[in-house]
Amino acid sequence: RTKVFLDCDPGRDDAVAILLALHLPEIDLVGISSVHGNSTIDAMTYNAVRLLVSYGSAEQATRIPVFKGSEFPLVAAPRTASTIHGADGLGGVEGLLDMSNERVAQQQSEALKSNAIIGMADACKALAPGEKLTLVGVGAFTNIALFISVFPDLLLEKVSQIVLMGGAEGRGNKSPVSESNVYCDPHAASIVFDCPIPVVICPLNLTHTAIFTDEIHSLLLQPNPTAPFSPEAPLPPAASDLRLSLSTNLTHFAAAYKRKYGFLGPPLHDPLTIAYIARPELFKGTRYRVDVELKGDHSVGATVVDLWEYKKEQVDQDPSNWGRKGKNVLILEEVDVPAFYK
Ligand code: BDR
Ligand code: CA
Repeated sequence: RTKVFLDCDPGRDDAVAILLALHLPEIDLVGISSVHGNSTIDAMTYNAVRLLVSYGSAEQATRIPVFKGSEFPLVAAPRTASTIHGADGLGGVEGLLDMSNERVAQQQSEALKSNAIIGMADACKALAPGEKLTLVGVGAFTNIALFISVFPDLLLEKVSQIVLMGGAEGRGNKSPVSESNVYCDPHAASIVFDCPIPVVICPLNLTHTAIFTDEIHSLLLQPNPTAPFSPEAPLPPAASDLRLSLSTNLTHFAAAYKRKYGFLGPPLHDPLTIAYIARPELFKGTRYRVDVELKGDHSVGATVVDLWEYKKEQVDQDPSNWGRKGKNVLILEEVDVPAFYK
């Protein structure tokens, strides 16, 4: 099982990433941190807590810590994404536990006293000798950039790879050319992409192929997802809150994507990172030199992917060099979509 620390801004698709990280047998989730992005840091922290407690087993809800992360980007002006995710990041979602639940209240009080960067460092220090951690980022990359800058030795010794949802080749969802997680903190993205360990990204070009259609939604609502669909069958009581929360969440996500982008349904961006860690054989990717546009009139936050090796002369072609001068990012370009949704 791969030990995973998940940094997120929950967030409609982040919620599904948390669900997968808690329940895929290949993943051992050891910590969750919040970061600004889809809404304020307070909302992101509370959502991380209530998703963990609602979706995890009693043991997971007690053992897995939640850490509060950065409120602002490193340099850029703060931004949120309320048109897609609602005012608090999970606008309109029903069926999640709240502060009236003892464990939610306890986890929330611990989270507010904590710090994401220290949480990442502590997760590294708790590893057995020879064991490594996978760091996952599905919000702005501020916390991860700070961890890299403050604890470079832990990064090198204890982190096997960083897997991110972010960036795009020639498209955007916050501007014509910038994807939200990079746009929300482009300087942080630049630091993370150039760090000296393997960095993997799920860009929009990949996530836009993994659309959560109405048909997949109806499968989710089946009492037994492997049985033929029967719309009038009631949901079993034990699963109703989980399914209610997923269904209300994804209904709002779908409406926003249909309205704003004209898509058939929302792309489940963030869960693809967890799916990649659990089942890398479902994905195909290529390593490229990727830089982040940090200033400009039209392209701030764009990921500049050197598809045709224009920078061949300057870029170290040694595959062991992931750092500042190397081909620094493995971009996932294809996924087996039916297997992912299954
Ligand atoms: C990314 O931006 C966020 O709004 C989503 O949760 C996802 O992580 C998609 O661009
Ligand atoms: Ca996210």
